Amino acid sequence: MRHSAIYPGTFDPLTLGHLDLIERASHIFDRVIVAVVEQSRKNTVFSADERVAMVRAATRNLKNVKVEAFDGLLVTYARRKGIHVLLRGLRAFSDFEYEFQMALTNRKLASEIETIFLMPKETYSYINSSTVREVVERGGDSSVFVPPAVQRFIARRLRQAGRRAGGVSRK
Ligand code: COA
Repeated sequence: MRHSAIYPGTFDPLTLGHLDLIERASHIFDRVIVAVVEQSRKNTVFSADERVAMVRAATRNLKNVKVEAFDGLLVTYARRKGIHVLLRGLRAFSDFEYEFQMALTNRKLASEIETIFLMPKETYSYINSSTVREVVERGGDSSVFVPPAVQRFIARRLRQAGRRAGGVSRK
């Protein structure tokens, strides 16, 4: 029996913390699907296609990791895939309340689906995507927060934008 898990998120952009979690999961599960939400509640800097491309580029060496975009309810997507495990990261105690609420909401919607939490490496516990976005938007060096593949993507985007506004504009 193949054990699969879905790691959902906005990944705007994928950080070293996200990647650490994906690597850990890839050692535990036969197959990990990183599910990039298309329509986020957040005002994303990167489009869904760009976010998927960045995650794919960063996880290319992980053979049992697949990256897909999804829309609608996460549990509906999981059911469609026939996957019963959702993965989320807990970086610090402050993540708990939000994650607790989301896990129990998903359980109420689909009782057969379990949420499992993994802790990313402590070195990355302070990183979040909004900080990275702010650094990127203001023209700072994000290479200490994101994997090289994402860094290259951001640099290309900056070049395309011609640094007209001094950073990357929102989608
Ligand atoms: N390393 C670095 N940062 C991490 C992290 C890690 N290991 N784990 C979480 N984060 C950060 C992210 O960078 C992000 O930071 P930001 O808020 O500054 O942008 C924040 O924690 C949460 O991001 P992420 O892990 O990408 O999750 P999310 O909250 O953006 O995604 C979904 C939430 C997509 C899973 C959720 O909205 C969803 O399921 N949507 C579909 C609709 C649905 O089914 N709703 C009902 C369920 S409640």
